[in-house]
Amino acid sequence: MCDLDRLKAVTIVRVAGRDMLVIWNEGDVVACDRVCPHEQADLGRGRVEAGRLFCPRHAASFDLRDGAITAGWPSPPLRLYPVRITGEQVWVDTGMRQSER
Ligand code: FES
Repeated sequence: MCDLDRLKAVTIVRVAGRDMLVIWNEGDVVACDRVCPHEQADLGRGRVEAGRLFCPRHAASFDLRDGAITAGWPSPPLRLYPVRITGEQVWVDTGMRQSER
């Protein structure tokens, strides 16, 4: 679904054909929805810093461990998906929320 070396080079990869992102987060790989759950901005245009994905529209950010938004923002959490790494390929389980593992 995504090449690991490319992901390390660019940090955020948009998954072709799906509203989904794969993110390189300080040595860990995270998959999440591309659409911000607050007001639907494109998180593929955001940035990653200190374990958080920052939305390009507002000052809010999401914890890449559990999807929680910055305290005080009225929004459900960002949906995360389980990932599996096989050799140099990253695979995302698109049918399951990370919390359902
Ligand atoms: S649209 Fe993303 S935080 Fe508001």
